[in-house]
Amino acid sequence: MADGPRHVAIIMDGNGRWARQRHLPRAMGHKRGVEAVRNLLRGVRGMGLEALTLYAFSSENWRRPADEIDDLTRLMKHFIRSDLDEIAANGVRLKIIGDHSAFDEEAVALIDGALTRTAGNTGTTLAIALNYGGQQEIVRAARAAAAQGEITEDTLAAHLDTADMPPLDLLIRTSGEIRLSNFLLWQSAYAELSFTDVLWPDFTVDHLRQAVAQFAGRERRFGGR
Ligand code: IPE
Ligand code: IPE
Ligand code: MG
Repeated sequence: MADGPRHVAIIMDGNGRWARQRHLPRAMGHKRGVEAVRNLLRGVRGMGLEALTLYAFSSENWRRPADEIDDLTRLMKHFIRSDLDEIAANGVRLKIIGDHSAFDEEAVALIDGALTRTAGNTGTTLAIALNYGGQQEIVRAARAAAAQGEITEDTLAAHLDTADMPPLDLLIRTSGEIRLSNFLLWQSAYAELSFTDVLWPDFTVDHLRQAVAQFAGRERRFGGR
């Protein structure tokens, strides 16, 4: 039996389909997706997770129409304005993985402010993956490791965006897609994977608890026997 997970990551997928099923604009799916994030953050407080990583925007999501990217950026800015006080008050340390400098100036300033404000917090680390791609991260880490000397598993891992986080234990994807979509490729080497058909706006802390309960019943071998 595995101990409880220290680090859980979630590919929050299915906002568009959630909206389509209800004949609503995609933006409404994203808005409800943000509400699911807010409720999840409230729900996980007692769970004792050391780290939670949420995939919010991939390096490939720039392929979407400009109006959808605008909607997502606007929601992100609004979320920081409305929820940062609560997040900071709960001892959460915010972290960004990926390169958020690609978003507009106002978004970058809000994100940088949120990072600075929560940097000294010692509770759960909440990593938001923004303009994140696992392959790009590995390339960046390999270049940085090479600039300092030999590339080994350890020196490369020390330059990943997640270097200061516990190893990834459990990776969840919503919406029924069974793929990683360039998320945490290195880190998921021995993570347990959990796929659910639930669309992201419908995902609650109870679904997370179910995945964690399933995780607890798995035997992790890491190649041994
Ligand atoms: C996930 O929902 C949110 C982001 C990728 C930003 P989608 O927008 O991918 O929703 P589907 O996959 O089209 O249902
Ligand atoms: C992955 O979802 C990215 C996020 C959830 C932010 P996508 O909807 O972009 O993935 P694909 O395109 O279906 O693989
Ligand atoms: Mg999707």
